[in-house]
Amino acid sequence: MVNVIGLGYIGLPTALMMSSHGVEVIGTDYNKDLVDTLNAGHTTFKEDGLDDLFQSALDAGIRFTTDYQVTDTYIVSVPTPYDKFSKKVDPCYVVAAVKNVLDVAPQGAVLVIESTVSPGTVEKSIRPILKEQNRTDVKLVHAPERIIPGNMVYELLHNNRTIGADEKEIGERIKQLYSSFCQGEIVVTDIKTAEMTKVVENTFRAVNIAFANELAKICRHDNMDVYEIIRICNMHPRVNILQPGPGVGGHCISVDPWFLVGDYPSLAKVIDESMKTNDGMPDFVLNRIYEIMKEKGMTDITRVGLYGLTYKENVDDMRESPTLQLLESQERHLATGLKVYDPFIEKDVVANQYHNLDEFLDDIDLVVIMVKHNEIKEEMNKLSSKVVLDCHNICHLNEVYHI
Ligand SMILES: NC(=O)c1ccc[n+]([C@@H]2O[C@H](COP(=O)([O-])OP(=O)(O)OC[C@H]3O[C@@H](n4cnc5c(N)ncnc54)[C@H](O)[C@@H]3O)[C@@H](O)[C@H]2O)c1
Repeated sequence: MVNVIGLGYIGLPTALMMSSHGVEVIGTDYNKDLVDTLNAGHTTFKEDGLDDLFQSALDAGIRFTTDYQVTDTYIVSVPTPYDKFSKKVDPCYVVAAVKNVLDVAPQGAVLVIESTVSPGTVEKSIRPILKEQNRTDVKLVHAPERIIPGNMVYELLHNNRTIGADEKEIGERIKQLYSSFCQGEIVVTDIKTAEMTKVVENTFRAVNIAFANELAKICRHDNMDVYEIIRICNMHPRVNILQPGPGVGGHCISVDPWFLVGDYPSLAKVIDESMKTNDGMPDFVLNRIYEIMKEKGMTDITRVGLYGLTYKENVDDMRESPTLQLLESQERHLATGLKVYDPFIEKDVVANQYHNLDEFLDDIDLVVIMVKHNEIKEEMNKLSSKVVLDCHNICHLNEVYHI
């Protein structure tokens, strides 16, 4: 039996996927409301295919609880934020979860850490707990997760995976477990290599996004069309530039590269600059809003609306989102009044938030496309009488500004 600890964006789909592929699974989360919601038969976030997967896991007998189970295999999938000052990974949730597990784990149990951690974290922060508690019988494994919100179910089934273990035999055992559902290739390596590969993958993405964002700034400065330039450059057989955007959010690309900056400050220069470039984009968009307002003779910021609150399209995850960063930046400038709407966010989370697209559009003259949800692509004609600042180059109406 597998006890999955932490039933958030990663732990829940993982637990459901294993359960629906014949593994006996109990999911544990210390958030009682979350566990109650799951036990009442409801999923806790929106994701393509998640409800069907939930149903097949329920049919297969998955259970949810706040208690840690006595079993031979644990999968820990709890948050790993970074310390905003030192930029290093903050392993406090993983450390706490490992202690919770050690309270009940039998002799020789395998403890798989799925949470993303910086290279050396298992050695520096987890192994000492085992030593302190005289539990070196417990086997540690690191199995980082690569799935992307919006396509989680497909990617769980099809992505390649990495498993880091001290002993090959334990690595192979956990590989067998993931092979119950994973059709991709599963590489078994050592723990530090597995830790580093996950962080490097997200850093690769962050640096490449930063390059596109920097090009957008250069092109804006000298009045060149960044999209046309990238399109032409990408016709070169060995060039593949990403698209610029209003910033980077989520739990991975906007967080994990900082771990390397925090641990290797004198070495991770390109990464440091890239993260700063990406983090500066919401401010850049805010400046564009003011430039456009000036050009159009607009003076009332309350007639400007941000479309989208989530960090990417067609998901309900708002963590670290560019829109939230932009609103914070606005507040730092002691300004308020921007209106906001997102079809995926039902609760009121920020001031001046709307829950209906038509009502939102009725109250604004300038709309800023922060997120390319399918809804806005399908309803683009509704923007025809508006001034549009399109941060994703998806709007082909007449009066469109870009970043
Ligand atoms: N979200 C993503 O897109 C994504 C993708 C790949 C990897 N990751 C990594 O996966 C890990 C988990 O991220 P997430 O997005 O699922 O986080 P999350 O915040 O959505 O979920 C974490 C869950 O763990 C629970 N929890 C925390 N400590 C606990 C404890 N001691 N006992 C029981 N439950 C506990 C919380 O209540 C929460 O429900 C992170 O390291 C993240 O970097 C995330």
